[in-house]
Amino acid sequence: MGKNKLHRFAEMKTFKNVFEPTIEEAKSGRYKLKGKWIQNYFENNHLLILELGCGRGEYSVGLAENFPNKNFIGIDIKGARMWRGAKTALENKIENVAFLRTRIEMIQSFFGEDEVDEIWITFPDPQLKRRRKKKRLTGPVFLNSYRKFMNNNGLVHLKTDNDVLFNYTLNVATFNNLTINYQTTDLHKTDSNNKLLQIKTHYEQIFLKENKNINYLNFNLPKNREIIEPPYGE
Ligand SMILES: C[S@@+](CC[C@H](N)C(=O)[O-])C[C@H]1O[C@@H](n2cnc3c(N)ncnc32)[C@H](O)[C@@H]1O
Repeated sequence: MGKNKLHRFAEMKTFKNVFEPTIEEAKSGRYKLKGKWIQNYFENNHLLILELGCGRGEYSVGLAENFPNKNFIGIDIKGARMWRGAKTALENKIENVAFLRTRIEMIQSFFGEDEVDEIWITFPDPQLKRRRKKKRLTGPVFLNSYRKFMNNNGLVHLKTDNDVLFNYTLNVATFNNLTINYQTTDLHKTDSNNKLLQIKTHYEQIFLKENKNINYLNFNLPKNREIIEPPYGE
C-alpha cells in the first residue's frame, strides 16, 4: 500500500465524523448507532439521508452544505476515497454529514426501522454482466434491503452515466408500480438550474468531460411491498 494511503487511513482513525465498524460489529446486527444516528450522533431531530457508494463524498458534503437542516451519511467501502469528503467536512465545520465505511451489502446492520428518509445512489458500478445483476444497487435485492430501514415511500435517487443501468432501474420501478417523480436522460441540459442536481461527483466530472449524458431519476419506495425483478430487459 502507498505511503499516502497509509497516512490517510491513520488520519481517518482520528476523524470524529468517520465510522469504520469491524466485520464482527457488522455481523452482530447490533451496531451502537443503529436506530440512534440522529439522537446520539447528530443530536438534532432532522431527517437522515444516505449516499451509497459515495466515493470522495462530493455529493454528501455538497448536500449537507445546501441543506443544513438535514443529516447526511456517505457510505463506501474505500477508505482512501472517503478521507477526502470527511476531511473537507471537518475543515469547513460542516457538522451535518458523517461517513460510514462498510459494504452496502451489510447496510441493514447499521440502520434501524424507519430511520432513513432518502437514499442517493451516485454513479454506482453498473454491474452489467448477467450474473452480476443481483449486485445492482437499484435492483430488487438492494431495494428490499433499503425498505427495511427507510420510511414508507422514502425517496430513492439515481444518477448514472450508464444508459443500461438507467433503463433497468426504470423497468424495475415501472414493473413494480413505483411512483417515479422525475426522470431525465440528459440532466445537465434539462435541469441546469436545480442546485440539488448540479452537485458534481468526481466520476460525474469525468463523464461530463467525455461528453456523456447524465441520467437521473427518483422514485418512492413503499415499505410494505416486496420489489420483484421484471421478467424482461437487460
Ligand atoms: C464509480 S464509483 C462512484 C463514486 C462516487 N459516487 C462518484 O460519483 O464519484 C463507485 C463507488 O462505489 C463504491 N462501492 C461499490 N460497490 C460497493 C459496495 N458493495 N459497498 C460499498 N461501496 C461500494 C466504490 O468503492 C466506489 O467508490
